[in-house]
Amino acid sequence: MFADRTKWNLAPNRLSEELARYRAAGKPLADLTVSNPTECGFLYDERVILAALQNSAALKYKPEPQGLVSARQAVVKYYADRGVAANVDDIFLTTSTSEAYSYAFRLLCNPGDEILIPAPSYPLFDFLADIQDIKPLRYPLVYDHGWQIDFHALERAITPRTRAIVVVHPNNPTGHFTKRAEVEKLNEICARPGLALIVDEVFLDFSVAGFSLALATTSSDKANDAHSYSKPVAQAFRPEKSPLSFAGNVGTLTFTLSGISKICGLPQMKAAWLVVNGPQESKSEAKARLELIADTFLSMNAPVQLALPTFLSQGRAFQEQVMKRVRRNLAELDRQIALQKVCSRLDGEGGWYAILRVPATRSDEELALLLLNEKGVYVHPGHFYDFSRDGFLVVSLICQETEFKSGLLSLLTQLH
Ligand SMILES: Cc1ncc(COP(=O)(O)O)c(C=O)c1O
Repeated sequence: MFADRTKWNLAPNRLSEELARYRAAGKPLADLTVSNPTECGFLYDERVILAALQNSAALKYKPEPQGLVSARQAVVKYYADRGVAANVDDIFLTTSTSEAYSYAFRLLCNPGDEILIPAPSYPLFDFLADIQDIKPLRYPLVYDHGWQIDFHALERAITPRTRAIVVVHPNNPTGHFTKRAEVEKLNEICARPGLALIVDEVFLDFSVAGFSLALATTSSDKANDAHSYSKPVAQAFRPEKSPLSFAGNVGTLTFTLSGISKICGLPQMKAAWLVVNGPQESKSEAKARLELIADTFLSMNAPVQLALPTFLSQGRAFQEQVMKRVRRNLAELDRQIALQKVCSRLDGEGGWYAILRVPATRSDEELALLLLNEKGVYVHPGHFYDFSRDGFLVVSLICQETEFKSGLLSLLTQLH
């Protein structure tokens, strides 16, 4: 009765099963994976957010395939504040980044075509690809003086069926930003016929410049140098925290994805977008086709579109709270790590996760199970994010500080 594409192994994995059992037993849990921003104790301006949803203009239906102009203009402003001149006509609003991915995949790929995705990275790609009948193939990121793209392996992974290279900027969970030289190389590779770039920037605003605790002006300038690759607008851009966006990349056909689930901490409001950029001819053709895809779904609702300018205006206040939390948790992590020798952390530059390097004396899943059952600490094993070998755990840096501190202490005690 059902399509092969949904023939997934639907059984819960061992860790989720054990977690459900542990929770049902009512035992105390230090959950170091929490990444739902609405459950982390951040302050939202409730009055402003809810008032923005009460706009009488929402009583009129104005079907706009790309989304209401007023909402897209707010996205233009988002990029202008980051030194990138996005064009309102190049923006397509969607209900989530996942939906934006699916638009891009539907636009670019025939069934069986391939996309290249980074590893380690965001765990949803396999499902997103399955649902669109396409094949996700990995290209490795290597940790060697910081994270970088293994271009040799990436080029070897390209076949006549490859349609797009997916880049997560900064990547989840490695937290590294794509550097200028890498962007140039990606543009060079995608200049071959039939290849596009799809760039996920949901964590763009969460840059901590090497997670440096003293984010001095000089270090943020240095970080910006490393990340700025856009055309002339870059010169006017003096960022406080954000590196530049691929939404200014004209070197190749580029789909830049982002949304308010991370940048404003409002995943429940379901608003995201895709910006199309690149050489004029392919860009126009892409937009015309995307318009029909978007017109078929018309998935954005009026109240959220009308509220988007207000939501985006709340972004900085949310990001400041997140970065404060991230820096404090990171300082605590480094303090505890300095007191022992079995666990270290990998360097990251942004996002809100940290990667712990632990002895690979058992599988990461077994270690996560042990930590749960022995210490009541829940962490993600590296294989959730496609680490190629054992010895890595992923923790969220937006956990409440007291929980993070005590959970970490228990984790490190278990490793000894
Ligand atoms: C890299 C990355 N992209 C996209 C998303 C989800 O974004 P959305 O809620 O807009 O689908 C996440 C969520 O964790 C993510 O980590």
